[in-house]
Amino acid sequence: MRVEEKMNMAQGHWVLAKLGKRVLRPGGLELTRWMVSQLAIQPTDDIVEFAPGLGLTAQLTLAKHPKSYTAVEINREVAKLFRERIAPREVRQVIADASQTGLPDGCADKVYGEAMLTMLPIGRKRAIVAEAFRILKPGGLYGIHEVGLYPDSLPDEVKHEVRRDLADAIQVNATPYTAQGWSEILTQQGFEIVGIENKPMHLLERRRLIADEGLPRVVVMFFRMLFNPKLRGRVMQMRRVFRKHLDHMDAISIIARKPVNN
Ligand SMILES: C[S@@+](CC[C@H](N)C(=O)[O-])C[C@H]1O[C@@H](n2cnc3c(N)ncnc32)[C@H](O)[C@@H]1O
Repeated sequence: MRVEEKMNMAQGHWVLAKLGKRVLRPGGLELTRWMVSQLAIQPTDDIVEFAPGLGLTAQLTLAKHPKSYTAVEINREVAKLFRERIAPREVRQVIADASQTGLPDGCADKVYGEAMLTMLPIGRKRAIVAEAFRILKPGGLYGIHEVGLYPDSLPDEVKHEVRRDLADAIQVNATPYTAQGWSEILTQQGFEIVGIENKPMHLLERRRLIADEGLPRVVVMFFRMLFNPKLRGRVMQMRRVFRKHLDHMDAISIIARKPVNN
């Protein structure tokens, strides 16, 4: 059975996985590459990735030959698929919620997680950020890549409207934040902000699709949509919402540091 058949098929990311889409983070590979480059992964680094999914970013990280790489994934089935795809490389897997990894204090030089916080309620967002802080060494870096809202002065009514439409489209209670909002979630747990980068929410736009997936895969995705009206309906609904809110919704990556004197 394919992974998406085992998961809650209603959720937007599994709808896109069923379509054949591999890049499921809002800013695409471009923003992932920015985040990985800012983390400046070295052969001396112990790395922890939260919610690695099927391991796309893990491959970029492993290409830098860190001292160690640990994946923390909550879903056993996804973890199994990750193992099959990443094998036979040296990776450690922990099946756990990223808010309670069971890893020791100060064990990591760099921690990152993509496309996971947006879909969680604020309490769980904070708990995961706190866990990243706990497992990082002083001076260590934490990277996130999530859905953003802009500008920082966006009125609350518009924020509510975007969140409602997004939750309807991806059938998960998604709460994106502005750059200031995400930064506050990080600084409230003790982090310092090192860098912020934004990209437009072009997850389902042709140019980004080709850049992320390659033309042959995009053609396959197109035919899957053509012959599956239900799938097509869901994908089109998501694209409509992304386009409707293009002026207020984007993709954001933030690099934060655990202060050295911690
Ligand atoms: C949308 S996918 C993102 C996967 C990957 N980071 C990416 O960008 O392609 C969400 C993944 O995060 C995992 N996940 C969600 N919440 C989690 C949590 N609290 N702890 C660990 N994994 C989690 C899910 O099981 C799923 O594999």
